Amino acid sequence: ERGVVIGLLGLGTVGSGVVQIVKNHQQELQHKVGCQVSVGKILVRDKSKHRDLDIDEDQLTVEVEDVVHNPDIDVVIEVMGGVNQAREYIIQALQNKKHVVTANKDLMALYGAELLSVAAENGCDLFYEASVAGGIPVLRGMAEGLASDRITQMMGIVNGTTNYILTKMEQDGRDYEDVLREAQELGFAESDPTADVEGLDAARKIAILANLGFSMNVELEDVLVRGITTITTEDMEYCKQLGYSLKLIGLASRTEGRVELTVQPMLLPHSHPLASVQDEYNAVYVYGEAVGETMFYGPGAGSLPTATAVVSDLVTVVKNLRLGVNGQMTARPLYDKQLKTDKE
Ligand code: NDP
Ligand code: HSE
Repeated sequence: ERGVVIGLLGLGTVGSGVVQIVKNHQQELQHKVGCQVSVGKILVRDKSKHRDLDIDEDQLTVEVEDVVHNPDIDVVIEVMGGVNQAREYIIQALQNKKHVVTANKDLMALYGAELLSVAAENGCDLFYEASVAGGIPVLRGMAEGLASDRITQMMGIVNGTTNYILTKMEQDGRDYEDVLREAQELGFAESDPTADVEGLDAARKIAILANLGFSMNVELEDVLVRGITTITTEDMEYCKQLGYSLKLIGLASRTEGRVELTVQPMLLPHSHPLASVQDEYNAVYVYGEAVGETMFYGPGAGSLPTATAVVSDLVTVVKNLRLGVNGQMTARPLYDKQLKTDKE
């Protein structure tokens, strides 16, 4: 049996993690899905770049057709980032009946509804667990574990870079710029970290969480956003002395049929559960009417944690393939949004 072959769009921080997990956890993967999973063609920008990975040179390509039009590839994993090209490539892959897994929150926050409906029209799966909170299975937790409930609030730390910066500023009195550089080196930050520090990355995740958790049709521009760019080490010292931690908090709440979506720095008493979330870790508090309070916690960024979420989505795709039930997720929202934000 040929097994399932995946094609990768991108081989950076997350793509490298995917290659490693597929190789190192082959036994677990085969056990879960009942067939071999292997990596085929990989789209990159620069084939000559040194890559410390166990791949053949001829797996790398700069031609997207080698992945999205390749009859040998069953599942396309988009981990290249950006919006327009990624959107175009994913649509081509879906139209070629390839299932897609993506880690791209920029894309899902702007075009999630469109892409999910293209996937449904083509009988394909489109999963995006890694797009929110890296390695934490929060989307799956809500979509499956809390599927029977009516979720009314989600609140949390959903950006690893800013949490890393704020933690190091608070604990070690380090400079914002210095810690940001370190977060970039560690692979937590976006290629342009502006979206991280200005709160836009967290806003994208809040929009995705709200759409999935509330089954709604909110848009990125509905989220009120404030970032952390103006926070100084002196501010952090004051907060500490007063007994508070400063955290970038995303909030999506639904009350009486209305929705409020915000991302902003907040002061939390040291006793608050979110105050103890440190470094690149994320935590998402989810409140459901029946279940009550739940909390999802774990690494929110980084190569292997994020790749874990990507490859776990892949496992679901392959299980669906073997059962012949791909593309059966509901793409249409249940509720229409009515927004209440500070913008009103
Ligand atoms: P990187 O910048 O590390 O890697 C991007 C990869 O995509 C590189 O291999 C690059 O090629 C390739 N690439 C980019 N643009 C093109 C293009 N136009 N044509 C061909 N190849 C291209 O990004 P990350 O791995 O950090 O992030 C990937 C995605 O995952 C993004 O959407 C990001 O938001 C998301 N994400 C990242 C997390 C993280 O912790 N880093 C966590 C959760 C989600 P080359 O190697 O030749 O430069
Ligand atoms: N740049 C993002 C972060 C990556 O720092 O959280 C994970 O989505």
